[in-house]
Amino acid sequence: MEVNTIAVIGAGAMGNGVAQVSAVAGYTVVLNDISEEALKRAMATIEKNLNKLASKGKIAEADVSSAISRITVTTDLAEACKDADLLVECVFENLELKKKMFAEFERLCKPEAILGTNTSAIPVTEIASATTRGDKVIGIHFMNPVPLMKGVEVIRGQLTSEETMQATLDYIKKIGKESAIAVDFAGFIVSRLLDVLMNEAVKLVQEGNSPEDIDKAMRLCAGHPMGPCTLLDLVGAEIAMHGMETMERDFGDRYKPHPLLKKRVLAGLLGQKSGKGFYDYEK
Ligand SMILES: NC(=O)c1ccc[n+]([C@@H]2O[C@H](COP(=O)([O-])OP(=O)(O)OC[C@H]3O[C@@H](n4cnc5c(N)ncnc54)[C@H](O)[C@@H]3O)[C@@H](O)[C@H]2O)c1
Repeated sequence: MEVNTIAVIGAGAMGNGVAQVSAVAGYTVVLNDISEEALKRAMATIEKNLNKLASKGKIAEADVSSAISRITVTTDLAEACKDADLLVECVFENLELKKKMFAEFERLCKPEAILGTNTSAIPVTEIASATTRGDKVIGIHFMNPVPLMKGVEVIRGQLTSEETMQATLDYIKKIGKESAIAVDFAGFIVSRLLDVLMNEAVKLVQEGNSPEDIDKAMRLCAGHPMGPCTLLDLVGAEIAMHGMETMERDFGDRYKPHPLLKKRVLAGLLGQKSGKGFYDYEK
């Protein structure tokens, strides 16, 4: 099937990035959120990112305005869904919310539309169970920050059709990214490994290690491009906690989120998105 129009549902940290890369690749994009404020913030972020790319000569000046003109924003979900050939859901990491959204997508999208979820850890088949269109549902797990990260994890649900898989792989290629295909179990590949690393880093902090030293050790001794405390601040503590909870539910206690991780989420120390995590982003 031909994909021309992309609906991005949820305009937070991930949604604005998905909208940006899709528009730059030439797709018509409809960006939806329940919050007007989130839509305003998302468009400001996209504009800032594109201008930065243009100032570094990575895209032409003219492409900035044409990419922006391909994005429309709306708080009306029906409006966002009606013309979508491919939808990427980027709302909060909450199973009940995602199931409710997918039941709505089934009602509001064309029967042939591909329904993608950017979930970090929830099995795609579980989200697809809220619809009668399991063949159209697929995991399209973008990485943060979306414009900079080359890889996208693609997860085939139990009923995902070959046609849906192929159209999704074509979309990922067209936006200049590469796919890694993962089996549909909680956490897939990326969150299964990274959430555990970040959860352990929280334990190390509780045991008295400083975030700076943990990060330095993993950068300089293990060759990681970014330490796990910085990574947790980038991802958002609540995203890692929900990922661990999904994996704990399916695989048992070894995936239990550390109590200090939960406490940090309750305290709003989410990282970059709340302005404070292990490091301070308000300055
Ligand atoms: N942050 C990351 O590093 C990362 C990486 C990969 C995948 N993800 C996944 O992407 C999804 C979004 O994460 P995020 O970090 O962008 O979250 P976020 O909190 O930054 O943004 C979520 C957005 O969804 C909106 N929203 C909530 N309910 C909605 C509804 N009913 N309709 C429309 N919009 C609604 C919120 O207003 C908010 O703007 C989650 O499933 C998360 O696990 C996150």
